[in-house]
Amino acid sequence: MKKQTKAAIFAVTIIALAGSVTLAADTKITVIPKPTQIKPSPGHFIVGQKTAIYAQSGCSDVENVAKYLSEQLRPATGLSLVVLEQSKAQVPADSFLVTTENSDSALGDEGYELLVTKTNVVLRAPKPAGLFYGVQTLRQLLPPQIESRKKVLGVDWTIPCVEITDKPRFEWRGSLLDCCRQFMTVPFVKRYIDLLAYHKMNRFHWHLTDDPGWRIEIKKYPKLTEISAWRNSGPGPLRSWDNPPKTDEIYGGYYTQDDIRDIVDYAKSRYVTVVPEIEMPGHSSSALVAYPELSCTGGPFKVQNTMGISDDVYCAGNEKTFEFLEDVLSEVVELFPSLYIHIGGDECPKKRWEKCPKCQARIKAEGLKDEHELQSYFVKRIEKVLLSKNRRLIGWDEILEGGLAPQATVQSWRGMKGAIEASQQGHDVVASPTSHCYFDYPYSKEQAASFPDWMSVLPTEKVYTFEPLPEDLTPAQQRHILGGEGNIWTEVAPQEQVDSRAYPRLTALAETLWSPKELRNWNDFSGRLQSHYKRLDVLGVDYYKEK
Ligand code: ACM
Ligand code: ZN
Repeated sequence: MKKQTKAAIFAVTIIALAGSVTLAADTKITVIPKPTQIKPSPGHFIVGQKTAIYAQSGCSDVENVAKYLSEQLRPATGLSLVVLEQSKAQVPADSFLVTTENSDSALGDEGYELLVTKTNVVLRAPKPAGLFYGVQTLRQLLPPQIESRKKVLGVDWTIPCVEITDKPRFEWRGSLLDCCRQFMTVPFVKRYIDLLAYHKMNRFHWHLTDDPGWRIEIKKYPKLTEISAWRNSGPGPLRSWDNPPKTDEIYGGYYTQDDIRDIVDYAKSRYVTVVPEIEMPGHSSSALVAYPELSCTGGPFKVQNTMGISDDVYCAGNEKTFEFLEDVLSEVVELFPSLYIHIGGDECPKKRWEKCPKCQARIKAEGLKDEHELQSYFVKRIEKVLLSKNRRLIGWDEILEGGLAPQATVQSWRGMKGAIEASQQGHDVVASPTSHCYFDYPYSKEQAASFPDWMSVLPTEKVYTFEPLPEDLTPAQQRHILGGEGNIWTEVAPQEQVDSRAYPRLTALAETLWSPKELRNWNDFSGRLQSHYKRLDVLGVDYYKEK
């Protein structure tokens, strides 16, 4: 206690010496994404032995956020901040109060207000998600060492006095992780989710099936994990189509249904929704290795061990394909509470369908114009399955070709054209154009020399200019833009390289999706990023160091 009192005096002295109280307090506030409104004032709140956390009584979600705050602060400070039920309207001295009472409903489902004074810290939000985001802000107001998982000595655990009012600009703030081309361990996936939450991102788009591997256990089709999850490639970046690996070493893995429930629960406790992606009709050849009867040719096939897109796709003329996918999706919706289920829909070559008697018979019977309309027929049938299970379909912008399924949401990746078209047709959109959101791409020209040639250069500064709302849309059409995603495809990004692909670019994306557009300022952001790096260092994030 004595030491902390001294620290308080010291902090006040520094502020006085700095000449400008506002500036001294303000310079400490480097939160990313930048809060909507920040009003600093002199002084600090000191977290010490006597500090307690009061949680609004009778609300388990609020109590859980209070416990989460206590757990976040415990390792570095060595303090066990007790969580107590709030019994009086008054906020006791030396305490945090976490509550949904008397908060401003205009802050919506994810906004919060935070008032830090010398005597206490009051965090209010209409909903528990807002409280959770308020805690992320608090973490970033404390010294960077707060992120240490071991006790740190000699640090004064102070929070600058400030009043913050904050809410997100977009409701969908996501990131895709491709766990097919590279398998990622369960702890790694959880850590990825944790870092998303730290930056107030709320969607984890989990790419679980693709040509080079099927990663989700489906009880009814055990061969998907016995066979489709494994390839002859060994670990490491994938080689190009015309230069296959010269090894038979088996590489792969899959997530059991227990693993998935564990990850989904973990994400839920961090207010992150896991959106699974089960690719169809293309990017599906790993499933065809195990079940070749679902293909147009009957196989046999091998799990693809290179980059590239397989010509072998689900046969759209075969009823068994739809039975299989309905069974798979039945298990998927049991595992994932997400309203949205991603069905891929991108890059489906039509070569096999053009030659397949069953696919051609389907085109004729359904009065379809061509193979693009056959793809649209496919997606519409799958949408009916999902709607019957009270879920909604989301797919890449190719699902616009041949006609959109009636209630589909479109993820625009080939630029913003798909976003514009879909929103003009009255459909919801998630924007992730390659130009600003493909974080598997190189940061610089120099780095590009060793990357596949389809990848353009994407420095963090360019990510920071990402604008999910196209100007030529009417306000009503703009309301269909739910938000955006930063995508980590993993052709050349094994697990140990994911951090440096994602960070710092994800911090820039987080700010474009959360903070008001008027506050966007690269110089200000890059200044805050320099301080933020210290936090990422303590968190053990192996971010890319841009020159
Ligand atoms: C994609 O990058 N093929 C969606
Ligand atoms: Zn076919």
